[in-house]
Amino acid sequence: MILDQTLIPFEERYLRITELDDAIEAIKQLKVRGAPAIGIAAAYSFVLGIKNEMDRGTEENILKIAQSVKRKIENSRPTAVNLFNALNRMFDRTKQLIEERKNSDQILDELVNEANMILEEDLNASRGMISNFLKLFEGVKKPLSFLTHCNTGALATGGLGTALGAIRAMYEIDKVEKVFATETRPLLQGARLTAWELEKYGIPYNLIVDSAAPYLISKGMVDAVVVGADRVARNGDTANKIGTLSLALAAKEYDIPFIVVCPSTSLDLNIEDGSQINIEYRSSQEVGYFKGERITVDPYKCLNPAFDVTPHQFITAIVFETEIKLFREMSW
Ligand code: MRU
Repeated sequence: MILDQTLIPFEERYLRITELDDAIEAIKQLKVRGAPAIGIAAAYSFVLGIKNEMDRGTEENILKIAQSVKRKIENSRPTAVNLFNALNRMFDRTKQLIEERKNSDQILDELVNEANMILEEDLNASRGMISNFLKLFEGVKKPLSFLTHCNTGALATGGLGTALGAIRAMYEIDKVEKVFATETRPLLQGARLTAWELEKYGIPYNLIVDSAAPYLISKGMVDAVVVGADRVARNGDTANKIGTLSLALAAKEYDIPFIVVCPSTSLDLNIEDGSQINIEYRSSQEVGYFKGERITVDPYKCLNPAFDVTPHQFITAIVFETEIKLFREMSW
């Protein structure tokens, strides 16, 4: 079951997914989205794909089925490394179970357990990130105004969130004055999802158009920018929702902290820097149409990179559940 995020805030509808192709479509269409949630969805989709093939009595052996299911899911969205990390883990576990000569029922049971563990570990990672984030702001006595981008809350993760989860925890100890949430063009994760979550938590906020962010920063209205991540390279370069780089540049120019909050499942240890991150380009129609209405002369001329890469030079700190990676001192 997934909560269809494309319908929020107007409808809270859960979808029961029984076919691998539908699971992949749900990831592609952002019904389930946000790097940690994509990783979790990929793990469960992997089990679903294998189970269905087995039920259909496919002649191929389990390893071959697992390879093909993994490849199909890998082709859904390229940037969030959580998806690849989760699939590699599920695949390795499958190989191990085959080597241990488990029967197909045992393999499926164990794979469900593994997917449950990925979900559970994500929840624990959120707890760790939140506690590290609170440590980072320990010395701050007055309530702060945070600016955040896209949606990094409960919806985007196993249930607690990354950046928005951390901001929420700050609010619970009276350290948040206000949150500025960017609407996040073109798919409006900020306007639809972050505003919905902030409303639920009772956190004071303003929704702003993406391009208003540097202005608010320049006016001293923002104490820190806090965002999530889809992939972090070994040197700390970070891919996140398109628009993140401009926030980091403004934060550096006006000397306020720019903080990334993400689980270690967003780390890609195979790449040295951000130039190696595969950035997803989505359909030009997402930019050229709004709610089915064309909003420009030729929608095919729209270009739609879904993510950008912020070099680590513009990042103050990356808050993982395991450590705080500080690139420059925080000053208040
Ligand atoms: O395209 P999306 O909505 O999946 O993009 C999500 C983001 O960019 C989030 O900021 C990122 O995944 C961090 S989520 C905790």
